[in-house]
Amino acid sequence: MKENNKSEKTFYITTPIYYVNDVPHIGHAYTTIAADVIARYKKLSGYDVLFSTGTDEHGQKIARSAEMVNLTPLELADKVVLKFKNLWPLLNIKYDDFIRTTEPRHIKVVQEIFNKLYEKGDIYKGEYEGWYCVPCETFWTETQLTDETCPTCGRKIEKIKEESYFFKMSKYQDQILSYFEKNTQCIQPKSRRNEIISFMKGGLKDQSITRTKKSLKWGIDVPFDNNHVIYVWYDALLNYITVAGYNIDNEKFEKYWPADVHLVGKDILRFHTVIWFTMLMAAGIELPRMVFAHGWWTIEGEKMSKSTGNVVDPCKMVEEFGADAFRYFLMREVSFGRDGNFSKDLLIKRINYDLANDLGNLVSRTVAMITQYFNKKIPQPGIKKEEHDVGLENYALKTIKKYYTQMNNLALNAALETIWQFIRRTNKYIDQTEPWILGRDSSQKERLSNILYNLAESIRLSTILIYPFMPLKANEIWEQLGLESDLEKIRLDEDASWGKLQSGILVKPGKIIFPRIDTKKKDPKEVKEDKVNIISYDEFKKIDLRVGKVITAEEVQGTDKLLKLEVTLGDEKRTIVAGVKKHYSAEEILGKKIVIVTNLQSVKLRGIESQGMLLAAVDKDNVVLLTIDKDITEGSKIQ
Ligand code: MSP
Repeated sequence: MKENNKSEKTFYITTPIYYVNDVPHIGHAYTTIAADVIARYKKLSGYDVLFSTGTDEHGQKIARSAEMVNLTPLELADKVVLKFKNLWPLLNIKYDDFIRTTEPRHIKVVQEIFNKLYEKGDIYKGEYEGWYCVPCETFWTETQLTDETCPTCGRKIEKIKEESYFFKMSKYQDQILSYFEKNTQCIQPKSRRNEIISFMKGGLKDQSITRTKKSLKWGIDVPFDNNHVIYVWYDALLNYITVAGYNIDNEKFEKYWPADVHLVGKDILRFHTVIWFTMLMAAGIELPRMVFAHGWWTIEGEKMSKSTGNVVDPCKMVEEFGADAFRYFLMREVSFGRDGNFSKDLLIKRINYDLANDLGNLVSRTVAMITQYFNKKIPQPGIKKEEHDVGLENYALKTIKKYYTQMNNLALNAALETIWQFIRRTNKYIDQTEPWILGRDSSQKERLSNILYNLAESIRLSTILIYPFMPLKANEIWEQLGLESDLEKIRLDEDASWGKLQSGILVKPGKIIFPRIDTKKKDPKEVKEDKVNIISYDEFKKIDLRVGKVITAEEVQGTDKLLKLEVTLGDEKRTIVAGVKKHYSAEEILGKKIVIVTNLQSVKLRGIESQGMLLAAVDKDNVVLLTIDKDITEGSKIQ
């Protein structure tokens, strides 16, 4: 087998090529997002990456689907290809090549390999008698069946008896088995590798690789026999070498082949190992480095199927929740390789807890404090480090190291968990150091500067690590930090180390990066209360509204809602306990001139007497304080 002199710094990753009988669903999105995440990570790691996806357009399944809608197979393919090509950018997927098996560059490769193996004597003519599953495009022998249904999909299979060309797979049985036994990394995850090995130990039969044109016309012609077309899987698998430039662009082929990772679903692992590897071995082409099989998604606990009507459309998910949140969920929810369960409720929980609460709040609190205390300038790191600071810095370094290992092992969800542990640790650092208290004391300026630098630096590092998973949101955070460099061009070895953040850059407070999703449906009683009641002017006059300035603000311990404010009304101070903590941090609210109802009966909240109420506008997602448009004396009456 010829060994390519592929450089260590190139990386070739592929997705399966998708059948064009159906529109894209969550399963297609899952593999392609995962491939995109890995490709982006490898680019950040300095690799020259080739990331390919595409469509599988031949075979009986496509021919029949086209017939049903009165189109030619190619017309159907042209339509569905557009759906895939339109979806990928919506999901922030950036591939390098999109291959269609109907392209001349691919047909050429398939016919060349067919000729090569025929000439070598590894393809011979015979007769096939057995069964075929059209939805899975799979041949089954009598011994593999218990009845006339497909062991993979359970659908009815068809009997075939016809002349066929065969590929001598049996010849390679021992060689390929010992290859898989020696190269333990080659089939992942491990449990799947064991399945393949035990299947192979059962013995490999020669594989039928053509259909007669009497039974199927829609395929690539056998180059030297006009009565046969090539079996769709035999054609499809070869897409991986077509993309790499096999016999078309030798320089490219030497550079990228062998593929580093073929990402596939667990259902098509056998094709990608047993058949694919023996084909390559027979053709004398170097074998891929790894095939990784991921699990399947069920929908609210049930198998996804058109007949159940529970197929998840990725376009709808993007519309409703945004591409990056959907990407995050799919990558975070299950360990890569295992099956997972999808539901909107689970997705919303991830958005509200991980994205809005943990990450979103960290960013908005930090940017707000840098704005308030340092006039938007990222402050100096400070010379004297305290225990808290060193703890955070060490945590960051450990996080980065662990992340590399996990990403290199394709443990994608574990890598996200690692980042989130760091984000939670950073939020804890804010609670430990209480910058809003230091902000009141000018002698603490240096300490405050140090803390806010550390926070911004932790966010910068987290953003780099998050970027492969959520490229668009990472860019939004990057911008709020005032960073102008192109995240895509970041290099982990240069940029992912502590202290690279430049002081003096101006942060750019912007919109909320991950708005919370309100899960509470309004009950009808509440809706009624929302109806406007007419009151007289005299009734309105009874309410004493005044301008108040917030002079101190602190969180009420043990609640996630309340802030304790001290408000001056000019000649009088009031304590007000307000339920705005989820929307405003103590430091954000400090110094604001707001509207206070001063003649409301006081109440005790968490043991603190609240002597008034502030006014705020409230909608489904937000609580926004009523503030004063121009400066006016504290205590002014509002009428
Ligand atoms: N055309 C072949 C692949 C040829 S590759 C040389 C094919 N196409 S497919 O469109 O049917 O399936 C593509 C992928 O979608 C497979 O990897 C399959 O595992 C994946 N999924 C289909 N349903 C899925 C879920 N419910 N969950 C996760 N992935 C699923 O097979």
